[in-house]
Formats: sequence, C-alpha cells, structure tokens
Amino acid sequence: MGRWLRIPLLLGLLLAVVVAGLVDRSDGGVTSSFVRNAKKAIDMPIDSDVFRVPPGYNAPQQVHITQGNHDGSAMIVSWVTEAEPGSSKVLYGTDSNKLIFSAEGKHTRYEFYNYTSGYIHHCTIRKLKHDTKYYYAVGIGHTVRKFWFTTPPKVGPDVPYTFGLIGDLGQSYDSNSTLTHYEANPKGQAVLFVGDLSYADNYPNHDNVRWDTWGRFVERSTAYQPWIWTAGNHEIDFAPEIGETVPFKPFIHRYHVPYRSSGSTAPFWYSIKRASAYIIVLASYSAYGKYTPQYKWLEEELPKVNRSETPWLIVLMHSPWYNSYNYHYMEGESMRVMYEQWFVQNKVDVVFAGHVHAYERSHRVSNIAYNIVNGKCKPVRDESAPVYITIGDGGNLEGLASNMSEPQPSYSAFREASFGHAVFEIKNRTHAYYTWHRNQDGDAVAADSMWFYNRYWKSADEIPAV
Ligand SMILES: [Fe+2]
Repeated sequence: MGRWLRIPLLLGLLLAVVVAGLVDRSDGGVTSSFVRNAKKAIDMPIDSDVFRVPPGYNAPQQVHITQGNHDGSAMIVSWVTEAEPGSSKVLYGTDSNKLIFSAEGKHTRYEFYNYTSGYIHHCTIRKLKHDTKYYYAVGIGHTVRKFWFTTPPKVGPDVPYTFGLIGDLGQSYDSNSTLTHYEANPKGQAVLFVGDLSYADNYPNHDNVRWDTWGRFVERSTAYQPWIWTAGNHEIDFAPEIGETVPFKPFIHRYHVPYRSSGSTAPFWYSIKRASAYIIVLASYSAYGKYTPQYKWLEEELPKVNRSETPWLIVLMHSPWYNSYNYHYMEGESMRVMYEQWFVQNKVDVVFAGHVHAYERSHRVSNIAYNIVNGKCKPVRDESAPVYITIGDGGNLEGLASNMSEPQPSYSAFREASFGHAVFEIKNRTHAYYTWHRNQDGDAVAADSMWFYNRYWKSADEIPAV
C-alpha cells in the first residue's frame, strides 16, 4: 500500500478509536466510559461534623419521617433520645409559632451484643390536610427541636409529584456527596430508598453506634421529607457468632413503616399511595415463594391497584432482577421467576432496585416465556414490561461495582459505574421525566434520562434515551 493511501486509513482508525472511547455501543445499549474518581470510598470518621450530636440535654437526634398510612394523610415521626426516655409527644400545626395539635407516641429500645440503643420514639400523626406545610416539635420537656414537612397532594390521576431515588447509601465521604447532590436538586419531594442504609454490619460486632451516626447524618433530609424504606441485606444484622439471631433487629426498631395499612403482616413488604403513584415495596430477604405471606399479599395486592386513581405503578426492591454487572449476579433471579409474570400482567411502570453499587437502566423487557422444555429463556422487548433501574450507587464504603459482563446484554439500555442519585418526576397520568445524576456533575446535569410513558394510559414505545 502506498504511503498516501495509508494516511486516510490511519485517520479512519484513529477516529474509530476516539468514538469507541466515548461510548461502547455493543448490541444492547450504552456503556458509558465516563472516567470516575477511582479512589476508595472511605467512611467519614466518627467525629465528623455530620455525625454531631445536637446540643442540649436529651436533645432528640436522628429525626426522620415516613408516610404513616396508605393515602398519605398520616406521618410517622421518629427520633432518638440518649439520656432518658423523655416525652414521646409530637406537637404540630400549620403556623410555626402555634403548634396547636399534639399526638402521643411510644418509645422502645433494643440491645445488640454489647450495645444498648437510645430511646427510640415513634409517633404517628393523623388526619393531616393534604398539600399543606406542617411544623412539628419533638423533645417536649427537655430540649425542643423543630422541623417541618409538606404533606402530599390528595391522591389523584394527574397530580404531579417528584420522587428522589437513593440506594445503598452508607456513610462515606461519597455518601455525603450523594446526599448533598440530592438536596441541591429542589424538585425531590420524597425519597424512595431501595435498601442498605447504614452499613453498620461492616464494623466489628455490627457496631450499632454506626446506626446512630447514620441516623444523624441523614437527618438533614429525613426530618423534612419522608423516605420510603426498603430493607436490604445490610439491614438483616444476623450474627449468630455473637448471639444475634433475630434478623432485622436494629432496622425494625429504628425505622417504622405503615405496613398494616396495606394489609401486610410484616414491615418488609407493603404499599402506599402518594399523589398519582402506587408504590409497592418488596422484600428480597423475606420468603417470597408460593404460599408464603409475601407471595399471598402481593397476589392480592396487584389487582387492587386502581390505575384511574394512581396511574403510576412503581415497585421497589433491593436485589435487582436485571443486572449486567459481575456483582450479585443473578441474586434476584429466583424472585424474578416468581413474580415477573405478575409485573407484566399488571403493567408495572418501573422497578427500582439497589444492591449493585453502580447504575443501570434496562429497556422494557420480559423473560416469562420459558417453561422448562421450550428453550425460550432470553429477555425480549415487551411494551407491557417495566423498565428496571439499578440505583445502588449511593456511595457506601464497599466502593463501586465497575466490572461489567461483556458484551452488554441486549436488555441493558445504559450503564455506568459512578455514584449518584435519580429523580422521577411525574407530570400527569401519561408522562414522567426521569433523570440520573452522577455526583461529579452539577445538580442540573442529567447523565442519563428518559421520558416515561405510563403503561396503562399510553402504552406506546418511549422516546429512546440519549
Ligand atoms: Fe445490598
């Protein structure tokens, strides 16, 4: 080949390399090549400012709120006092200077190996007006602390509402960036949290002091907007080697959820309605096989969802069903086999999971044709199927999952190993705008986005994401 012919060839080759470096378009979707910070995620030291105990005698700490009943007209207010029980009363009202209502809660505490918890208070305040800003005070009689929240609008099909999405948060410096980044986004009205809260179980004897530090770290958000809790594997705290054999002990004492109001018999699976969304929380670490309580509950629950009232059907779970990273690979598979058919039949819009410390979004796919003899065991495009999103990228100390299966499977639309959070912005019964925000960017930047068309009201293919 002549010298002058080789130059365009080399230029072409160079261009191909540059393009491949930007995105690797294999047969599935996009594997982002964004160069993230490769430093190890390290937990913030115990004397960090974000863990500071609030000043004052027996001051309430670790304040958090969550939805208190099925339709969002109640709120559970929780906090911890250390020196003595003090009052479990919450004063509240719509005028910050006149908290004219009060509700009485209860306190509890637990022991875990050589640790004894503080006094953990839970108080449900009911009959709240929708779409109203309430002020509330806790610590009555000792050090009073005041916070506020806004109740959700009345449930209805075209009510706009914006959820934040965070998973696998932990308490590292990266966790702090994720929370700060979420707070910088003014749109989020409530957080759908997909499990793995404190990672206290990574410490010797599951040092439960790290449950306390976590509660104080997230208070700046959880005291002001409800976080909807999902139990992850780091909530199990099963440690028979130190005599701790009751699973989920710290989690169920500290984080109450309104499971009874949806007919559930355990706090690990339940549902709530919020604005135009129906949210079903499932338990990856409770029995889900046929005849189990969770199975029976879900079987009865799905047909109850009235899409004329709550068009958006959202499912939260910890362990993802569709995951093309080489971490926790296929751990969600047996639950997928049990329930995927139901999700397609009931046109679930989106499933959010965590567990894998990275980000991934699937196409609308299902894998329900297999019956042991027909060999049909590949995911196929399916307009009735949910989009599966893995958002386990909160930033905990275990670090990023960066090793992916190659080539990118055809069900996977976009994946990137960076820490971040997402926002699901419901506009009306047909449209929702979804964005994922990596921590390295400003809060207005979306590293992945998609317009969702509601599966019940507008079952057309969505606009392909960038
Ligand atoms: Fe996990």
